Amino acid sequence: MTSSSHDSILKLLRKHSGQDFFGYKDGPILRGVEHRMRKNRIASVEEYVTFLKREPEEIDKLHRELLVGVTRFFRDKVAFADLDKLALSSLIDGSPCQTLRFWVVGCSTGEEVYSLAMLAQERIEACRHQPALKIFATDIQPEALGVARAGIYPLQVSENISEARLKRFFEPHPDGFKVKPTIRRPIIFSTHSILHDIPFSRLDLVNFRNLLIYLEPDAQREALTKIHYALKPNGFLFVGHSESVEGHDDLFRQIDRGGNIYQTVVKSHQGGTASECFPMSPRQLTLQPGGKRIQVSSALVGAREAARARTEELQSVNEELQSANEELQSTNEELATLRDELQATNEELRGRCLVLEKDLEKADRDNNEMENAFRSFGVGVIVLDLELRILRHTWAVTRVVQLIPADAGRPLADLRLWLKLEMTDLSDIVKSVLRDLEPFQQNVQHEDGHWYAMKVSPSRRANNSIEGVSLTFLE
Ligand SMILES: C[S@@+](CC[C@H](N)C(=O)[O-])C[C@H]1O[C@@H](n2cnc3c(N)ncnc32)[C@H](O)[C@@H]1O
Repeated sequence: MTSSSHDSILKLLRKHSGQDFFGYKDGPILRGVEHRMRKNRIASVEEYVTFLKREPEEIDKLHRELLVGVTRFFRDKVAFADLDKLALSSLIDGSPCQTLRFWVVGCSTGEEVYSLAMLAQERIEACRHQPALKIFATDIQPEALGVARAGIYPLQVSENISEARLKRFFEPHPDGFKVKPTIRRPIIFSTHSILHDIPFSRLDLVNFRNLLIYLEPDAQREALTKIHYALKPNGFLFVGHSESVEGHDDLFRQIDRGGNIYQTVVKSHQGGTASECFPMSPRQLTLQPGGKRIQVSSALVGAREAARARTEELQSVNEELQSANEELQSTNEELATLRDELQATNEELRGRCLVLEKDLEKADRDNNEMENAFRSFGVGVIVLDLELRILRHTWAVTRVVQLIPADAGRPLADLRLWLKLEMTDLSDIVKSVLRDLEPFQQNVQHEDGHWYAMKVSPSRRANNSIEGVSLTFLE
C-alpha cells in the first residue's frame, strides 16, 4: 500500500467515524484493508479507496474490521492470578485506602473489566476494612460499550469462569448469563480514546491490555505517559501477554516474572510533566516576557503548575460528566427495557383480548343456541340479582312478563306479570328462595288460561357463590 493510499484511507476513516488511526501500526491496518478488498473482490488499494469514497457503509465495515475487539473472561489466567497476588492484595489488604480507583483502557465488550471486578470483589469481601471500589472502563467503540453495559453473555462464557464465580456473580438470563449488580455497580463505562482524550487521575491500577501492540512506538509512548500521569505513586499497570513496557524504564518498573505487571517509578509529573501530556505550543513559550534564563524557567514552572491545576480540574469535571453520562445511559437502558416490557405486555394483552373476543363470540353463540332451545321448548328464564333487579332474561319469558332489553337493572317489582299471580306473592317466593337457598316450584296460570310450571332457584356463579335467583317458566 502506498503511503498516499494509506493516508487517504485513514483520512476517510477520521472524517466518517471521527476516529483517528494515525498512530496505529501499519501491519494490522494493511491486513484489515486486504481482508475488506477480498470481501469486495477488489484487486488494488487505489480502487478500494475509490470504492470507500463511493460507499460510506464500507467505511463503517472497515472501521469495525480495524478495531479488533477480541476479548474474553480471565484472558490469560496466570497473569490474572499474578495480578491478584501482587497488585490487588497490596492495594486491598495492605492499605487503608477509602476508595480504590481502577481504569480499564480498551475494555471492548466488558469481559475483562468484569473479570477484574470479580477478583477485586472477592478480596474486598474477605478484607476487614472493605474499601469502596470505582472502575472506569473505556473504549472508542460505542457498540462494544453497549454490550459491556448490558452485561449479558452467552452460555459458552462458562468455559472461562469457574462454577463458583458463575454462581456468585451472575444470574441466569434467557440469552445465557447476566452480571449481578455487585460487580456491575462499581463500573462506569464511557467512550474515551487513550490517544486523544484527557486521562483519569489519582488511580491505583490501570489495566491496559492488548491495545499497546496495535500502536506505533510514538503513540505507545504517548499512551504510557498518560497512564503514568494518571496513576498514583506506586500505582500498578497491567499489560497483555505479548506486550512490553521495555524502553520506558523512566516511567514503569516490572514487578512480576511474566512481564505483565508494572509499578510507576517516579511521579515526575509532580515536578511538571503535565506539559508532556498536554504540551504547550512553542508560541506559548515565546510569549513569556524577559530574556533572562531564570525568568523564563520560573515562568515555565508557573505555567506548568497552572496547566497541571487546570488539567486536574478538567479531570474532575470529566469524571463527574462520565458518571452523569453513565447514569443517564443506565436510565436510558432502563427506559428501553421498560419500553420492551410494555411492548411485550401490550402484545400479551392483545393476544388475551383476541382469546377473550373468541370466548365472547362463543358465549354469544352458546347463548343464542340456548335461547333458541329455550324458545323451541317454550322455556322462559329470568335471572335476578341479590336485590331482585333484572340481570338477564330469555325472549321466551316475555310471554309471561312484560320485558324489553332496556329493562336490565330494573327491580322485579316494577314489572307487569301476565299471570294470575300477584307481584307481591312472587317477590315473597323469590326472597324465601334467596334466604333458604332451596328451590321452589309451583304451577301458575297465564291470563290467557294456559298453565306454566314455574321454578324459582338460587343462581350461582362459576365459583359457586350466589349471584341471585333464576325464575323459569315452562308451558
Ligand atoms: C483487542 S481488544 C482488547 C480488549 C481487552 N483489553 C482484552 O485484552 O481482552 C482492543 C480494544 O481496544 C479498543 N481501542 C482501540 N483503540 C483505542 C483507543 N485509542 N482508546 C481506547 N480504546 C481503544 C478497541 O476498540 C478494542 O475494543
